[in-house]
Amino acid sequence: MRYLRLRLRSSILLSITIFVIVFITLHVLIWSTNEFELLEKTPESVPKPPVAISFLSALDQPNIYDLKASQSHTLNKHSSYITSHRIHELFQLVRTTRNNQLKSNSINSTWNFGKFIPKKVSPHNNNTKTNVDTADSVTMKEKNHKLQFNITTTAKIMNEQDKIQLRHFIHYTLTKWKADHENDKYVNLADIMHDGLAQDEPELNTTWFKYIKTVTNSHVYNPNTPEFKHLLNHLQNGKISEASEMSQGTQIKVILNLPNGFQGLLKPYRVPRNYQTQPDHFYFSDIERHHAEIAAFHVDKILGFNRVPPLIGRLLNITSDLRDKATEELAKTFFISPANNTCFRGHCSYYCDTSHAICGKPGDQLEGSVQVLLPRPPEVDWQKISHPYRRSYSATRTAQWETNENYCYEHVMIDEDYHNRLLLDMMDLAAFDFLIGNLDRHHMMRISAFGINTALVHLDNGRSFGRYDADDLSILAPIRQCCFFRYSTFARLYRVYNKGLSKLVSDSLNTTELLQMILVNEHLIAIDRRLEILFSQIDICIKTYTVQGVMIDDGID
Ligand SMILES: *[C@@H]1O[C@H](CO)[C@@H](O)[C@H](O)[C@H]1NC(C)=O
Ligand SMILES: *[C@@H]1O[C@H](CO)[C@@H](O)[C@H](O)[C@H]1NC(C)=O
Ligand SMILES: *[C@@H]1O[C@H](CO)[C@@H](O)[C@H](O)[C@H]1NC(C)=O
Ligand SMILES: *[C@@H]1O[C@H](CO)[C@@H](O)[C@H](O)[C@H]1NC(C)=O
Ligand SMILES: *[C@@H]1O[C@H](CO)[C@@H](O)[C@H](O)[C@H]1NC(C)=O
Ligand SMILES: *[C@@H]1O[C@H](CO)[C@@H](O)[C@H](O)[C@H]1NC(C)=O
Ligand SMILES: *[C@@H]1O[C@H](CO)[C@@H](O)[C@H](O)[C@H]1NC(C)=O
Repeated sequence: MRYLRLRLRSSILLSITIFVIVFITLHVLIWSTNEFELLEKTPESVPKPPVAISFLSALDQPNIYDLKASQSHTLNKHSSYITSHRIHELFQLVRTTRNNQLKSNSINSTWNFGKFIPKKVSPHNNNTKTNVDTADSVTMKEKNHKLQFNITTTAKIMNEQDKIQLRHFIHYTLTKWKADHENDKYVNLADIMHDGLAQDEPELNTTWFKYIKTVTNSHVYNPNTPEFKHLLNHLQNGKISEASEMSQGTQIKVILNLPNGFQGLLKPYRVPRNYQTQPDHFYFSDIERHHAEIAAFHVDKILGFNRVPPLIGRLLNITSDLRDKATEELAKTFFISPANNTCFRGHCSYYCDTSHAICGKPGDQLEGSVQVLLPRPPEVDWQKISHPYRRSYSATRTAQWETNENYCYEHVMIDEDYHNRLLLDMMDLAAFDFLIGNLDRHHMMRISAFGINTALVHLDNGRSFGRYDADDLSILAPIRQCCFFRYSTFARLYRVYNKGLSKLVSDSLNTTELLQMILVNEHLIAIDRRLEILFSQIDICIKTYTVQGVMIDDGID
């Protein structure tokens, strides 16, 4: 009897347990399908739109667009990656080595570099690399006629001795390059576009012409000239005569026609200053930020590169400045939102739909960054170089450099395209990108009309400053794997370090920008921290390859 009761009880218990398990499983199943459907409905998890602000409450805010931009929580300054003592020591080390005249590294005469030089497949491609414009579009077709050789073979036979010799060879070629180009004269854009005689024509006596006289093969502006101030003033205040959409690129950009032949590229406000890239968002779907463009310009200027075409923040009236001046195509995308704000969405592949429209907030007011639009083909030829350290732009693939620490030897150092200033320009760019946290550098752009001795133009920084709580060390991969660095850049980084990078940046923003709080405190802390990490990476390189092995004075300032 008891036995039976026990069995009965245990079987009841068993059925209850089974029921509970089945119930939970079903519940989870239903719930997860629900979630799946939800996910299906929103095609991609999109960033939250900026908070709607009522006009009156906005008036009390330091910045009408950034209610949350107050210092909500301050991050602690990270403990140093490298002591300031070591940074000073490094600088002394580098300086003394330079004063002692870098010894030219002799190459082992029995070593045959030729075996690594890939044969260029089509040496006679005349206009392959002069693709247009900003390096924005991921989908843009590339004609890349480089490096069609058997990589696996190279990897197998490149041993440690080869790598040492290859490093020596790079030093040798860059020393030779320096000798060949040391006395090159600066070339400016005005001279390229108009011959000497034409320049006396009265119609070229314009502020625009005077500005492009200051655009040279080494800088896209000169910060100490009146032309620079005139340019910024035009971009910030010039009356807009036409607004048209820029066709290239994945996110909305508007070309503004300004007085005196100036054109500006407008990137409108999308997200608040303290917006952090969504953790599950890839760099290629990250939304572009006008404040990042502005901040990146100032960082580049302070580092002394002067390679970001000047840009400035501007307050626009979305109705009178944009809608009333819009080309027919753009005008079609304007509408009035339920909150009675004027909005437009434009045509592009990311964030150009009604739910991500750009709206006046409040009323007619709109913030944006306006960047000078440099002459493009066919007036002036540009070269668009596929970045060897570009990311895969795929959610499932990784790029070769991410898994191969020999990548620089096998793909960059043996490539003749890099046996000139481009190699060190790329290192400069990596340093810059690391400081601003830019993962989106798929191409390098330069004005090829200037010839071979021409600097990169640091275009398209709208996806920088995406995170302040994390530093993406992978951006340093070119420096880590190649371990070459330009002497003059190092010296400038050191000067900036001594003065305090974040202080210089915030002072610079404070004196030129009308828009407030372009970088929230957290970002300012982050750039100081990243500068130290950059020094510690250079320190590691120097410890591995010595100062002479890493630092190169190629005569470029
Ligand atoms: C040059 O390289 C060969 C092997 O490749 C080595 O035996 C020789 O010692 C090297 N010479 C010098 C001067 O380093
Ligand atoms: C390249 O240009 C030269 C002259 O400018 C021409 O003779 C040659 O045929 C062109 N090559 C190709 C592949 O178009
Ligand atoms: C590269 O070389 C290896 C060994 O010589 C060969 O097996 C392989 O097929 C080659 N790959 C290509 C793409 O030519
Ligand atoms: C250029 O224009 C300014 C005024 O617009 C005038 O003062 C100046 O003389 C002109 N220069 C030349 C070279 O024509
Ligand atoms: C913007 O322009 C429209 C049309 O000219 C005008 O009615 C409106 O008052 C302007 N808004 C602001 C804030 O100036
Ligand atoms: C928008 O404007 C319309 C007509 O002027 C008005 O009826 C409506 O209440 C306004 N909506 C809001 C949210 O202010
Ligand atoms: C900006 O400059 C003004 C004076 O020109 C100063 O009063 C203000 O404190 C500065 N703001 C910041 C954030 O440095």
